[in-house]
Amino acid sequence: MIGQHLLVKKSGPLYGTAHLYGAKNAILVIMTSLILTEGTSVLENVPNNADVRLMIVLLEQLGASVSFDTEVKRLIVDTTYINKSEVHPEIMNKIRASILVMGPLLGRFGTASVAMPGGDLIGMRPINYHLEGFKKLGAVVQLQPPFASARMSLRVLPLSTRIVLEYPSVGATENIMMLASVSNTETTIINAALEPEVYDLIDVLRKMGADITVAPAAIIIKGVAKLYPIIHTIIPDRLEAGTLLLAAAITGGDISIPNARADHLDIFIEKLRAMGHTITTGFDMPENTPVGIRIQATKTPCAVNIKTAPYPGFPTDLQPLMMAALCTAQGISTIEETVYENRMMHTKELSKMGAQITVEGSTAIIRGIDTLYGSNVIAADIRASCTLVLAGLIAEGETKIAGVHHWLRGYDSLDSKLNNMGALISLADDSIIAVDDQKQIQISL
Ligand code: UD1
Repeated sequence: MIGQHLLVKKSGPLYGTAHLYGAKNAILVIMTSLILTEGTSVLENVPNNADVRLMIVLLEQLGASVSFDTEVKRLIVDTTYINKSEVHPEIMNKIRASILVMGPLLGRFGTASVAMPGGDLIGMRPINYHLEGFKKLGAVVQLQPPFASARMSLRVLPLSTRIVLEYPSVGATENIMMLASVSNTETTIINAALEPEVYDLIDVLRKMGADITVAPAAIIIKGVAKLYPIIHTIIPDRLEAGTLLLAAAITGGDISIPNARADHLDIFIEKLRAMGHTITTGFDMPENTPVGIRIQATKTPCAVNIKTAPYPGFPTDLQPLMMAALCTAQGISTIEETVYENRMMHTKELSKMGAQITVEGSTAIIRGIDTLYGSNVIAADIRASCTLVLAGLIAEGETKIAGVHHWLRGYDSLDSKLNNMGALISLADDSIIAVDDQKQIQISL
């Protein structure tokens, strides 16, 4: 089979307007939450990316019936006939978020068996917080590699159950919250993750009939007997917004994203301002709403220091992309990664393009230079693929990026959105690139 590369040519400043599709990290968990209901639910603003398509296959394997109108971004899921509670390694290895079916399957059938996700390039990615939470809610958990299995015991639960997360894990908070929504106790998750995508799931569970209250750093869930199908529009993807804003920042452009949520990107926006970019949000308008972001980028951005943290801190998923933008900022920037133990592989690829970066432990020190140079580079994860695309937009010559499947996993036609604003990005077969750059076949995503 012929592989593919992303080809990025040095582009001028980006100008225009872009519309965000639904957040990948919200839609995946919301799709799994539908298992808790019996009947037909409708989800709107669903991105047509590879992870969503894999989650559709997973739900179909469990017995759901799914139809996806990729033109209008509408997903219709009938969960009435789900009759399996096992997820095999073949699908688990392709989509790590499939661990998020475990809570809903336990809630609906009292049993779940899911192949354990392994570590990946950015970290170990354990699931101990998920499993400990299930145990607190009355599950008996068994680890028999490659499977993690759980079944609800007949143990009578106390009236209230406290689950303390050592770290505010997004996935563990979501998985525990979904099971707790239909369990026989009032659950308080202490040190819960409160990312916008977790709020979107809370919104969905409440529409289904769940009783959920959000307190400072905690979520309180009073279990109910039954949940019902819903109609829901997925929140706009703040990571796609961050990618577009940084593409404008790095090229010195001026773009608007009318449906971006400024309140989902507070610290990120402050860092862009600290670099010298002019950012106008809905909060700056007479209506004073969180909706809408415009960037008018400076041609001479300056260095900033970044430290990743759980929401509302600087998102780890925008850390690699911010690094690309800081490679050509004036001065010395530092980026400290605190969420994942090994999220610095992109520094090596950026260095191939001329970036001046040294890594000390979990901190990268970036010395700003005038320009980058096109090179052959490899994307190791979704966000690294965007990082290299951003770097390619300002690099002299052409950047050829391998690892295209990561780009396809996370985004729906992001290359077209960028190209509509002046970027020069295309997808081409490896062999065609090698034979004749002039005759590249453009393959639309
Ligand atoms: C989600 C996002 C991912 C984002 C991450 C952090 C989805 C589909 N993915 O991933 O894009 O980068 O949040 O914002 O929503 N941990 C444990 N034990 C556990 C669970 C997590 O030690 O049981 C650790 C992880 O190894 C990691 C940290 O906690 O170092 C954060 O992970 P977590 O918030 O769970 O990330 P995900 O939900 O997997």
